Amino acid sequence: MGSILAERTASRIVEEDGSFRTKMLGIAAERDDVIALGRGDPDFHTPRHVVEAAKAAIDANQHHYTGPTGLPPLRQAIADNLKADYGFDYTADEIVVTAGVQESIMLTMLAVCEPGDEVLITSPRFTTYDTAVHLCGGVPVPVPTYQKDDFALDVAEIEARITDRTRVFVLVSPNNPTGAVTPPDVIRQIADLALKHDLLIVADEIYAKLIYPPHEHLSLATLPGMKERTITLNGFSKTYAMTGWRIGYLAAPADFVEKVTETRHTLSINSCTVSQHAALAALTGPEDDMQAMYDAYAERRAYLMEALTKAGLSYGAPGGAFYIYTNISASGMKAKAFCETLLRETGVMVFPGDMFGEPDSDFIRISYLQPLPLIEEAMGRIERFMADRAGAAA
Ligand SMILES: Cc1ncc(COP(=O)(O)O)c(C=O)c1O
Repeated sequence: MGSILAERTASRIVEEDGSFRTKMLGIAAERDDVIALGRGDPDFHTPRHVVEAAKAAIDANQHHYTGPTGLPPLRQAIADNLKADYGFDYTADEIVVTAGVQESIMLTMLAVCEPGDEVLITSPRFTTYDTAVHLCGGVPVPVPTYQKDDFALDVAEIEARITDRTRVFVLVSPNNPTGAVTPPDVIRQIADLALKHDLLIVADEIYAKLIYPPHEHLSLATLPGMKERTITLNGFSKTYAMTGWRIGYLAAPADFVEKVTETRHTLSINSCTVSQHAALAALTGPEDDMQAMYDAYAERRAYLMEALTKAGLSYGAPGGAFYIYTNISASGMKAKAFCETLLRETGVMVFPGDMFGEPDSDFIRISYLQPLPLIEEAMGRIERFMADRAGAAA
């Protein structure tokens, strides 16, 4: 018998089936040689000067509430940074600082999604979008991308799914879990599509600083007519290795920011004040640590692409982020069985495509968020695992 509370949970609450995750953690707990290439949490620590700024903020008694949209100098620094790095023309009053991009996603959906609205989402996908849309009574509609295109978005796939209930398109570039970067010409086509079908756009650019040549990033809201219909999301978790600080933001026209401020206040009043001071230091301080992290990711990516091919595994070549979405059908297993067996037999932890909205997936997401020697060790184990499978099939 369940509790009265569990029985009376509102119908909007979506319960995730956590059994697979729990099973994986259980298997991992029994080994002392696990190499975790699952989560999207950098192995690097937050840059020292950022940590020091947070300590200084604590010592200076910065323990109080801030305004709901964030500390004015931080909002200004974000606006300046968005202009300098991407060409946006947001002002400080067009920024809302939130507890990670995660809270920006919920705030955004609360603001734009009516019950019954259809929300198109780049897929395979970061499924927080599905949950946020469900919580608002909307309907998430995946827009598929394919390995043959390196998981690049095709505007025809978006347009084919537009109905009279479609309200929003969620553009995630670079995407999680595929690392796919939507090229500038496709971004321009998406802008045309948004105008043609009167769509709102959510542009999640959390990985925009992690793009590898020759891939290029273009921010949709910088295109003519786009700022007024786009909510741009970005944050500090990935670029500055600040996942636990819970700090991110949305950028959108000032009148929209005014409209959502009370809702933002209701969610958590303000983002952690100490983390806001840390974020300000991240934006205004030296960039050497970020560059070193980027260089390490680039090296790991190049290594993995070659090593996976050697192991007989194909993938969509990732243009950005720190993931490789790898096709494991050569193993003769589906992704969940693959991940479970790989972990049990070799201690390498990766996530199945099923966790990214693709049931019965043939893909795994490998995060290259361990030092290169550990990734090399993991690849050695994967290679032997694949060779054993080929041997068994022969
Ligand atoms: C595409 C995407 N958006 C948002 C987030 C949430 O990030 P944050 O730590 O800023 O809440 C993630 C985290 O993995 C992500 O992959």
